[in-house]
Amino acid sequence: MTIVHNDNESILGRAEINDIDAILAIPTTDADEIMHIVKNNADSIFTWDYSLSRPALRKLYEKAKTGQWNGTTDLPWHLDVDVEKTVKQDQEMLGVGIDQSIFDGTPVAKWGDKEWLEFGIEGRNWQLSQFLHGEQGALICTAKIVETVPWYDAKLYASTQVMDEARHVEVFARYLDEKLGGGYQVNAHLRMLLDDIINDSRWDMTYLGMQIMVEGLALAAFGFLHQTTQEPLLKQLLRYVMSDEARHVAFGVLSLKEVYDGMTDLEMKDRQEFAFEAAVRMRDRFMQQEVWERMGVNVRDIVPIALADPTRVMFQSMLFSKIVPNCKKLGLLDRNDKWLRHRFEEMGVIQFEDWADTGEEYASFGLDEAMPVAGE
Ligand SMILES: [Fe+2]
Ligand SMILES: [Fe+2]
Repeated sequence: MTIVHNDNESILGRAEINDIDAILAIPTTDADEIMHIVKNNADSIFTWDYSLSRPALRKLYEKAKTGQWNGTTDLPWHLDVDVEKTVKQDQEMLGVGIDQSIFDGTPVAKWGDKEWLEFGIEGRNWQLSQFLHGEQGALICTAKIVETVPWYDAKLYASTQVMDEARHVEVFARYLDEKLGGGYQVNAHLRMLLDDIINDSRWDMTYLGMQIMVEGLALAAFGFLHQTTQEPLLKQLLRYVMSDEARHVAFGVLSLKEVYDGMTDLEMKDRQEFAFEAAVRMRDRFMQQEVWERMGVNVRDIVPIALADPTRVMFQSMLFSKIVPNCKKLGLLDRNDKWLRHRFEEMGVIQFEDWADTGEEYASFGLDEAMPVAGE
């Protein structure tokens, strides 16, 4: 589907969201790069108002303090991981690589079971690496929120998220290193999105980019892998991480709801555009271009076909199942003549709008039950 919008150029750097040449023109991260510097442009704000103003955030803070776990002692690291076996099981379950007819006439048409398994192993390695880099993005963004958010209750809560994210970085890095034998560099589109989030001077944009968009997608992706994989260490690791992530997304929804309810149309348009940009960057990264490259396949030849694969399109759209309801709850879909709704329609993800938003979901797990708060 070719849909051109005049404002796409300024938001995305390309007029048509499916312009594959423009997507592939973003340079991949150097294999030996070890440091990446981003200007964060924001004011650090002290508050002298230490009163309890936002009880819901304070409850989340209390929940976070008691919900801490230890990545070193709470996970069964002694278990051996048979990578071939676990990837094969997952592939059989999902049927990935079974309907190979879509690849007729491409360089991978001659691939047998061995190559598809190798592709699956590289894909797993790549996916967990992107989780890892995204977790570091969350660590940095949340540390930034501690400094920039003007509310005392939010600073307290965000500080617990910093610790949570450190733990997530720790466990994904260890799993990749000890069980998979190394990982991939950060994907170009994920890197660009993280840069944009950190670069923005407005404190609510950090929340929108990280807690709503990146973590909303992560929650869906972790949930999906947690359900499918039979590898016990990874399954447990994901379960622990997800218990934290649900809280993080709820933090974003609770905080932004208050801010966005009072915003003008013009201010909301900026937020809608930012949410759209983030959604497109995350979709661009699903092309897994680094995996195709490592398999010796010309990305330009294969990506248009892989992108049209109906199974892939379905899995990909599922990853927006948390983002869209949360955007709706924040009023982002319909302001400014339904601007973001139309964009999500074009991306084929609007069908999730009435799925549970994370605030409701949080309540349904009993995670929002009353807890003692000092001073109450
Ligand atoms: Fe995380
Ligand atoms: Fe998180």
